[in-house]
Amino acid sequence: MADDSVKGEASAQQQRDDGDNKKTVGSNGEGAAENQTMSKRQMKKLLKQQKWEEERELRKQRRKERKQQRRLQRQNHQEEEEEGGDAQSARKRPRREVTPSSLRLVVDCSFDNLMLIKDVRKLHKQIQRCYAENRRAVHPVQFYLTSLGGQLKQSMDEKDKGWVNWKDITIKTEHYSEVVAKEDLVYLTSDSPNVLEELDQKKAYVIGGLVDHNHHKGITFEKAKELGINHAQLPLSSFVKMNSRKVLAVNHVFEIILAYLEKGSWQEAFFTILPQRKGAVAVDQDGTAVQDKEEEDTDSDSDPDPTPEQTEKSPDGQLQTKL
Ligand SMILES: C[S@@+](CC[C@H](N)C(=O)[O-])C[C@H]1O[C@@H](n2cnc3c(N)ncnc32)[C@H](O)[C@@H]1O
Repeated sequence: MADDSVKGEASAQQQRDDGDNKKTVGSNGEGAAENQTMSKRQMKKLLKQQKWEEERELRKQRRKERKQQRRLQRQNHQEEEEEGGDAQSARKRPRREVTPSSLRLVVDCSFDNLMLIKDVRKLHKQIQRCYAENRRAVHPVQFYLTSLGGQLKQSMDEKDKGWVNWKDITIKTEHYSEVVAKEDLVYLTSDSPNVLEELDQKKAYVIGGLVDHNHHKGITFEKAKELGINHAQLPLSSFVKMNSRKVLAVNHVFEIILAYLEKGSWQEAFFTILPQRKGAVAVDQDGTAVQDKEEEDTDSDSDPDPTPEQTEKSPDGQLQTKL
């Protein structure tokens, strides 16, 4: 039995081997055919390679042409853009000759800890407005922000990261008295008994960076006296009669200075800049009111009026503010 089984196994092995041999023979036969095809392929490959070599120059030439064409296209496109861009900006804003003024205008941000965050945010918007107006002014001033830090800087970092790229502005963490020579400083404050008549291009005029709804009445006047620097109020009463107090928002003071530099007239500057809600009325030589203006609210610390860029029409034609 044991022998039979051994035999049986041996024959099974023989069958397996036969099968393998056939396979080998079979595959050897295919291999020969394949060799034949391979050589045909090789021939083809060779011919292809020859053709490729022959056409090398032609391809080089075509590449050159394509490159030249792309360069031309790019040039044309650039020219079109430049022409279009110029036409567009000319449509947007007529070119005015800009002559920077040497007058320095400083916004003193040292009152940060006296303000609630909602008022800091208002001050931030007022400063943004000052920056935008100065950038488009005919006689832009040398704009300084001093003592920048605390809540205001935080608001700027959070709400308008782009401020770090602002141009034509000097931003300092130091107090203005460390940045500008004392004798050049004039603090603008409505509480000063001195009335500003003209602007001196050599001076640095300081505006208190404060939105306080006049809770800190007289604070900038006191500080100016403490430091022993010059101070003055804007000549509002000589030119306009207002139905509200003479305390203006930071951006209004800033814009009045810019308008005065452009127009050379306080009266024109006040009327161009002061919001109608201040109820400003022109004053005649003898002190009588000559021009009535519409009366609205009287909050001088309110949000700045939007610039034309900040105001746009919604689809239903209403004016919207982007501040
Ligand atoms: C909203 S006011 C701040 C009022 C604050 N209680 C004070 O004592 O100055 C903002 C700043 O604008 C300037 N300002 C406002 N009205 C002014 C005026 N009539 N004349 C000169 N400066 C004025 C001042 O520099 C003032 O600090």
